[in-house]
Amino acid sequence: MKSYRKLPTHVTHAPGPYGEEEEEEEEEGNEPGSPPAKKTLSLRWQWLGVVVIVGAGLLGGTFWAISVRRLPVEPPGKCISVPESQRFDCYPEWDTVVTPELCQMRGCCFLQSSSRGGPPWCFYPPDFPSYTLKTLNRTELGFLGVLTRTVKTYYPRDVLVLQLQVDLETDTRLHIKLTDPNNSRYEVPLEVPSATKKAENPLYSLDFSRDPFGILVKRRGSGVVLLNTTVAPLIFADQFLQISTLLPSAFLYGLGEHRRGFLHHLDWTTLSFWARDVPPTESYNLYGVHPFYLNMEEAGTTHGVFLLNSNAMEVVLQPAPALTWRTVGGILDFYIFLGPDPSSVVQQYQQVIGFPTMPPFWGLGFHLCRWGYGSSNQTWQTVKNMRSYLIPQDAQWNDIDYMEGSRDFTVDPGHFGTLPQLVMDLHKHGQYYVLILDPAISSSQATGTYAPYDEGLKKGIFINITHGQPLIGQVWPGLTAFPDFSNPETHQWWLENLNVFHARVPFDGLWIDMNEPSNFKDGSVDGCTSGELDNPPYTPAVLGGSLFAKTICASAKQSLSFHYDLHNLYGLMEAKATASALIAIRGKRPFIISRSTFPSQGRYSGHWLGDNRSEWKDMYWSIPGLLNFNLFGIPLVGADICGFSGSTTEELCTRWMQLGAFYPFARNHNTKDAKAQDPVVFSPSARTAMKEALMTRYALLPYLYTLFHHAHRRGDTVARPLFFEFPQDKNTYALDQQFLWGRNLLVTPVLEPGVDAVIGYFPIGVWYDYYTGSSLQSQGEKVKLAAPLNHINVHIREGAVLPTQKPDITTWMSSGNPLLLVAALSQEGMAWGDLFWDDGESLDTFERGNYSYVVFNVSQNVFTSSVLHCNLEAIYITVDGLTVYGVQKQPQVVTVNGKEIPFSYMENKVLSMSGLNLNLSRSFSIKWI
Ligand SMILES: *[C@@H]1O[C@H](CO)[C@@H](O)[C@H](O)[C@H]1NC(C)=O
Ligand SMILES: *[C@@H]1O[C@H](CO)[C@@H](O)[C@H](O)[C@H]1NC(C)=O
Ligand SMILES: *[C@@H]1O[C@H](CO)[C@@H](O)[C@H](O)[C@H]1NC(C)=O
Ligand SMILES: *[C@@H]1O[C@H](CO)[C@@H](O)[C@H](O)[C@H]1NC(C)=O
Ligand SMILES: *[C@@H]1O[C@H](CO)[C@@H](O)[C@H](O)[C@H]1NC(C)=O
Ligand SMILES: *[C@@H]1O[C@H](CO)[C@@H](O)[C@H](O)[C@H]1NC(C)=O
Repeated sequence: MKSYRKLPTHVTHAPGPYGEEEEEEEEEGNEPGSPPAKKTLSLRWQWLGVVVIVGAGLLGGTFWAISVRRLPVEPPGKCISVPESQRFDCYPEWDTVVTPELCQMRGCCFLQSSSRGGPPWCFYPPDFPSYTLKTLNRTELGFLGVLTRTVKTYYPRDVLVLQLQVDLETDTRLHIKLTDPNNSRYEVPLEVPSATKKAENPLYSLDFSRDPFGILVKRRGSGVVLLNTTVAPLIFADQFLQISTLLPSAFLYGLGEHRRGFLHHLDWTTLSFWARDVPPTESYNLYGVHPFYLNMEEAGTTHGVFLLNSNAMEVVLQPAPALTWRTVGGILDFYIFLGPDPSSVVQQYQQVIGFPTMPPFWGLGFHLCRWGYGSSNQTWQTVKNMRSYLIPQDAQWNDIDYMEGSRDFTVDPGHFGTLPQLVMDLHKHGQYYVLILDPAISSSQATGTYAPYDEGLKKGIFINITHGQPLIGQVWPGLTAFPDFSNPETHQWWLENLNVFHARVPFDGLWIDMNEPSNFKDGSVDGCTSGELDNPPYTPAVLGGSLFAKTICASAKQSLSFHYDLHNLYGLMEAKATASALIAIRGKRPFIISRSTFPSQGRYSGHWLGDNRSEWKDMYWSIPGLLNFNLFGIPLVGADICGFSGSTTEELCTRWMQLGAFYPFARNHNTKDAKAQDPVVFSPSARTAMKEALMTRYALLPYLYTLFHHAHRRGDTVARPLFFEFPQDKNTYALDQQFLWGRNLLVTPVLEPGVDAVIGYFPIGVWYDYYTGSSLQSQGEKVKLAAPLNHINVHIREGAVLPTQKPDITTWMSSGNPLLLVAALSQEGMAWGDLFWDDGESLDTFERGNYSYVVFNVSQNVFTSSVLHCNLEAIYITVDGLTVYGVQKQPQVVTVNGKEIPFSYMENKVLSMSGLNLNLSRSFSIKWI
């Protein structure tokens, strides 16, 4: 009989990229040849053998009777004593059917559980060897400790001595770092703040478990345990790092980019993280990687955890509730944010990764795009049609069909010959032009004919295969090389190419696509190496089953490290290069939308959800997508309105244009062969409904812009989940069919066909219909709202003042229009709001003080506008009207700065006045008696 404590230590492996190869050793009584399952032939045979046994077992009666022959008759009590929900997977290899034998060789417990897809059958016993905390010393910022492991695990190159560094960085931020003190390992090249003095009154307290090693983080005051890593063994091998923790509740959010409901289900789900080009599909790893979660505690307080690691990764969720991080490289570098409310957690996260950039005002207008306009004339015609129907549009885009042979920095001279004239015409109308760029550079042209490649080759800026020549893959233009954006030289080369191209086509913004990076070949035209970077001992459950599926080889060389480490950063580094190039070329705020993203991306770009299908469920999925990217510090986000692939219907597109009018980034985008879906192609009634939704958006742009300012300044969310505002109301925790703009505006879209009503949840309080001012008093309940096809429900929360502006067909036109202020009174007759205003495009206006900031207040029947900061731009803006929702008694007199003015009062308790012509740059007050 086998002892459960015994571990297989005999591992066969090739020298890895980081550490020295260790001596192979064999302990007495161990099964030889038990490396990670899929690696050796002998194991594959063993695996096949088992399948046969299992099959026979199923035929012959019970599976158990045959397969237990080498197990104790009764599984040891310590295995049975582990509750199902707390079984941590000891055999995560997805390509191996785990058998009692394989499990035993790892020293783990094998117990079948009731359901497949439920608890793991092979799990760690409570006494599975882990690290021991040998020493723990106080430091200026916290603690420094040494962990040791004496028994090796079943993965190659365990790091037997670890350094633990715990820094109490701020009262709400704790930093925990586990590294190899003897060999430097790859760390994510992200500029993060460093603390200089220890937090004085932290919201957290810390305990350490010595043997086995564990960290316990509690919330001071309530004593809620936020982190308890003693639940499963810590593993820190060269290419397999794993740590588990209990969670205080099952209310878990974040962990992107995945297509899931906003609230995670902890039902034995494995989420994989590896940037990948694929139409969004549930359970796949998608375009971006965001190892950050937010967890609501039972008392309504919130904390967040960020693992700063860019290697291929997995997160396992289980109902304990518990979570396991599993990564194949780098170090374990955690930040824990104590909140205590959801908004502060997200702010504290962004204090580490950086606040998002302020978009240009026009970037918040409506964008129109499709793949397959086919010509610049056709693109131009689309713009002209939009203008002739007076439908708001700020930017026209083109997909790759503008290029010659799909090559970057070229224009198809036959079909897109008039592109420069089109762009000039857009500019003449105060409109903007955005085009797509892919990172992959055509390598198949004769030398001397395609400068971007020739120059790039000369400068050595491409990603190389192991032997030092550029790695060649295949993307739209055919064979391609991939720029290495981890090299500063590449940024210079990118800028030079953009500069030359901009002189021909003066684009205003860039859309960077295919930057996972996507490759139509697996790895390269010559495949990849057989080494452990391309075929790590453990491969997370990524789509395609390998790290090089539809991307470049993990073993490829970049100037900062191997692609193995940098893959998930490709989109971030390209966005950074693109942002600095756009600033150098245009001298104005860059506008960039990127498909692949990583933490801190918001500093350089927005994101679209690559939402690929014109289907109702895709429209729903866009809302959890929006909310997640707001958690990730990338508030400029939206899905392809009306859907990308497949053909939309008029009803779907109408509903989607209405919802899309409330995406922070609003672009209608369509694929090549689908039916046209820009607003003008539909019936007059649909077209009018779409136009009205856009007019509502344009009216609300001053409010939206102010929200972006707060995102930029302190990391507020723009599109906000309801529970951020109502953390004590558990009914809001799972809501992802509604969302807020900031604190004050609730959007309740229709997400299904054939209905004329929608049910929305309204947290306790008074909510005013945005359009009419009629009020709805909720006790925290679901409300059925009329929703005819030409209407999207929008409500203002009590206590808000929203700055709105007379809409127009471009932001260039509307941004000079007078303001209309809308105050929605609380039950106590109070309201508050603010406005950030600047020229909409200059760099760093807030940082340089070139902006105006105005605060609005209502109390005791007096509305006051107070100018807290003023620059010239605000002087040109007038306040034309004020509408007050929820004025309980008909006023007799209304005065502005003491002077009586006319007003109207309606039965639904709406007081309004217009023609005020007040200068926004001066404070004023309006009183009603
Ligand atoms: C901690 O302190 C002990 C004794 O003062 C010392 O021997 C040890 O090297 C220190 N460890 C670290 C990690 O600094
Ligand atoms: C690694 O570093 C630690 C202290 O930092 C030291 O005690 C140990 O002997 C070193 N060597 C190895 C091989 O772990
Ligand atoms: C931490 O987890 C371990 C293992 O499940 C458990 O025994 C211990 O009680 C937990 N500690 C706290 C403070 O919850
Ligand atoms: C585009 O329009 C221009 C001017 O109207 C015309 O000269 C040109 O031939 C057209 N190009 C194509 C490809 O239709
Ligand atoms: C890639 O190879 C080129 C020569 O083809 C060389 O100039 C460049 O430095 C290499 N880059 C890296 C990151 O190895
Ligand atoms: C999915 O749609 C996005 C958005 O336009 C596009 O960039 C991407 O190539 C599409 N992917 C596939 C596989 O169709």
